[in-house]
Amino acid sequence: MIITIDGPAGAGKTTTARKLAARLGVPYLDTGAMYRAITVAALDDGIDLTDEAALTRLAAQDEFNLELGEDGIRVILRGRDITDEIRTMRVNDHTPYIAGSPGVRKLLIGKQRAIAEQLGSLVTEGRDQGSAAFPHADLKFFVTANLPTRAKRRLAELRGDEGATLASVRDNLAERDRTDSERPVAPLVRPPDAIDIDTSALSIDGVVEAMLAHLREAGLVGAESS
Ligand code: C5P
Repeated sequence: MIITIDGPAGAGKTTTARKLAARLGVPYLDTGAMYRAITVAALDDGIDLTDEAALTRLAAQDEFNLELGEDGIRVILRGRDITDEIRTMRVNDHTPYIAGSPGVRKLLIGKQRAIAEQLGSLVTEGRDQGSAAFPHADLKFFVTANLPTRAKRRLAELRGDEGATLASVRDNLAERDRTDSERPVAPLVRPPDAIDIDTSALSIDGVVEAMLAHLREAGLVGAESS
């Protein structure tokens, strides 16, 4: 069973994906962490972020691993734990270059499909999971929230990253909304067959309950997952 959760940054995808997966007893995949890991590698290597061939070569080296655990994923790049580093503003600011690379996207979608194949069932979240990576997913969600709510959530997640303010995080999110939606390669689009959930006024548990209700309605899980 493949369940996709797509939507803009800060809509609550990662936490809901993790909690929904735990309730269903299946693994979850945070595909944003993959784009972020390659961003860290590119910054480490001083690669020109507009050099498509260099970015594709870097992604093809496949030097990062995601350790999928109960309480979240850990991201390991070249033996170094970069789980916290991938959430910094520096990485936020540079990830759009990586996400805009057709070569990187092709390789990462291949990696996402290989992970799904290996694991069988998956809750996977990102920008293109229902549209490009898993067009035949069993159920697709598209989660949104208003910009002020998303900025507050993202600031809390930055864990005291120096210099991050509500205004800077909000501007960064607005800019990423724009680049994610306007980029020519795999822009953020709502899959036509997705179920919309506005999380602005909902708690994480409220979102998970809403998703479980849809899964039950679709006959994908039984009443025991209540
Ligand atoms: O979800 P998160 O904010 O961690 O994603 C980081 C960035 O990676 C996003 O701004 C987006 O540009 C990109 N991304 C993507 N496709 C995905 C997941 C993330 O383009 N499937």
